[in-house]
Amino acid sequence: MEPLKGLILSGGAGTRLRPITHTSAKQLVPVANKPVLFYGIEALVGAGITEVGIVIAPETGDEIREAAGDGSAFGASITYIPQERPLGLAHAVLTAERFLGDSPFVMYLGDNLLRDGISALADAFREHEPDALILLTRVPDPWHYGVAELDGERVVRLVEKPKDPPSDLALVGVYMFTTAIFEAARAIEPSWRDELEITDAIQRLIDGGSRVESHTVSGWWKDTGQLADMLEANRLVLEDVERRMDGHADTESRVEGRVAIEAGAKLERSVVRGPAIIGAGARVVDSYVGPYTSIDRDVEIVGSEVEHSILLAGASVRNLQTRIEASLLGRNVNLARSHEMPKTLRMIVGDNSEISIP
Ligand code: DAU
Repeated sequence: MEPLKGLILSGGAGTRLRPITHTSAKQLVPVANKPVLFYGIEALVGAGITEVGIVIAPETGDEIREAAGDGSAFGASITYIPQERPLGLAHAVLTAERFLGDSPFVMYLGDNLLRDGISALADAFREHEPDALILLTRVPDPWHYGVAELDGERVVRLVEKPKDPPSDLALVGVYMFTTAIFEAARAIEPSWRDELEITDAIQRLIDGGSRVESHTVSGWWKDTGQLADMLEANRLVLEDVERRMDGHADTESRVEGRVAIEAGAKLERSVVRGPAIIGAGARVVDSYVGPYTSIDRDVEIVGSEVEHSILLAGASVRNLQTRIEASLLGRNVNLARSHEMPKTLRMIVGDNSEISIP
């Protein structure tokens, strides 16, 4: 088989992660302080795939280009492929046809995370040379995904976000294709959500007698399209974090368990209980940071308690009386207690934000 190319889909609208995605691409939201997209690039490089195309949208493309650059930081060579409108995953494949040429390729959805990478799967694809290879995993909520119906090992039917799922086997956002997919993508019609669905294109391959192999993912997999999934992905990635102290903790602070503290971060009179990560230049003063928390660059936490949350760069939390948990704070968001009278809530909150007050 010819060398595989990689295609990462980082276009789309990201409506389910608003308001974070009003100002930033959903694929750049950090999990354990690293953009989700970077895990995908690393997974491809880890499987020996270094020629990578990234599909980008007009609104967020520049930001993605700036973050991932020419790929040299990952040992890859990246080509950016603009897609004017998010017309579906199969449309994205057609948009990338010139970049892909005659090469077989791995398509990786830019908001997906797979614990065990894709090396073993890429090897199976190279070895068995099917027309397409899909990944499946059991989920409790199949109606949110593409769903597969199997007959023994054989895939017989694929349906996108079915109301009445034929099984609990969801399509994971990593696919391996040969050039046969182009013709199939051209032959299908837009779905009820007006997208050219990759699920329908693969069904078309099956109907035409092509060989579609399926594998079940053994390690965890997450689609980070929604807040709860994002927090869960953060929890799963932090589960593997290693203890590291590149910053500074004063003698009155305690660091318990696996906590990565990056350069220039400072702890004063605080307790951090891992697994957690404290980003470069962050300050934690008179505070408690609990398990499954990712504190990004230059965040300040003063006189407060935070747990099971993601705080993006430059955010601050000061003197709150209740612990924050299961939260995602965007860049430069400030949360503070004030002693001014009258005692009211005062806020400037962006569109589609969610706040719950005890
Ligand atoms: O995550 C797995 C699921 O991904 C599969 O189970 C589904 O079968 C598959 O259709 C897909 O469903 P989603 O509705 O979650 O896809 P989403 O719209 O979130 O798009 C996935 C990625 O592709 C995301 O990073 C945005 C990007 N994208 C999306 C569209 C529609 C593009 O680059 N261009 C597009 O036109």
